[in-house]
Amino acid sequence: MYILAVESSCDDTSASVIKVIDKKIDKLKVLSNVIAPQPIHKQFGGVVPEIAARKHAVNVIPTIESALKKANLALGDVDVFAVTIGPGLVTSLISGIETVKTLAYTYNKPIIGVNHIEGHIYANFIDPKEEIVFPSVILTVSGGHTTLVLMKKHGKYEIIGNTRDDAAGEAYDKGAKMLGLSYPGGPEISKYAEKFENNPNVSEKDVKINLPRPMLGSGDYDFSFSGLKTALLYSLRKDKNWKNRVPEYAFEYQQAINDVLVKKTIKAAKEYKVKGIMLSGGVSANSALREQFRVKISKEFDKISFNVPELQFTTDNAGMIATTAYYKIKKRKFTNWKKLKLNVKIKL
Ligand code: KG4
Ligand code: ZN
Repeated sequence: MYILAVESSCDDTSASVIKVIDKKIDKLKVLSNVIAPQPIHKQFGGVVPEIAARKHAVNVIPTIESALKKANLALGDVDVFAVTIGPGLVTSLISGIETVKTLAYTYNKPIIGVNHIEGHIYANFIDPKEEIVFPSVILTVSGGHTTLVLMKKHGKYEIIGNTRDDAAGEAYDKGAKMLGLSYPGGPEISKYAEKFENNPNVSEKDVKINLPRPMLGSGDYDFSFSGLKTALLYSLRKDKNWKNRVPEYAFEYQQAINDVLVKKTIKAAKEYKVKGIMLSGGVSANSALREQFRVKISKEFDKISFNVPELQFTTDNAGMIATTAYYKIKKRKFTNWKKLKLNVKIKL
């Protein structure tokens, strides 16, 4: 069975084809995962919805063609179509949805609508390094979400924590802007933080900037990053020399975000006595975050499974949407093109 999925919820257009190799053991193979990025947004320091929508309209068909070509397949070989139906930017989502609906109609095949956040979670099910076991706690950190989810079985989620204001990715993007770095801010801040870490003349003890770790001891699993952003702004205003200290600021800012994410996730894993921890979303591409989780988990638990998606499946991609679709097919949760609807505010 072949599944073709499209993701167009924000600025990247992505198409992927996966092959179901063995349903009994959920063995899947990602044959292609093509991502058409939109670097044009860099000049605006964030995604401009109108431009994103126009680019999706231009990119969606060539991206699907390229995914099929890489998989060495034709549209007629596809058994099931899948597409992100929300949450996201309406004008972006519509490109993917209408295109995939047309394909499902033309080829008379079933179609599956996938929740973008569920897609990020299911990125972990693509060739996991460790066996995935339930219950698991999943930290989803992206440009639009910072959510701690307790997953008890496939398709069953309990949200145990959420951001009260900005998402972690948003904090990275806005922090980077203040530091004069480009969009998206996460990879930029990470690059400058590494510059600081790799400088042989300084060590962590030399960090003279003190940014807050918001809600670190709040007793619940919620997050807040807008205060951190403001704290960075005030520190920069007070520091006439900040332009020469960007790596140090980037290091401290990244560490403030990571400290909160790691501590709250580990606490939740203990309280809910889970068997596994997973990370997902664009911010989970952060190498310091991945490493700090690894270190902390090996210190705090005797036996727990820990998974993080491969880098290409952390930021928005259609491979994760196709994989989610597979698990929905198993539960016979598909529909036809007439019934598929965009749902901007869809919840997990
Ligand atoms: O999941 P994603 O591609 O899109 C949304 O669903 O929002 O996440 C994008 C976010 C951006 O805010 C970007 O700055 C952040 O992920 N990001 C990172 C890294 N790579 C991407 N944040 C920290 N470190 C990274 N290496
Ligand atoms: Zn995303």
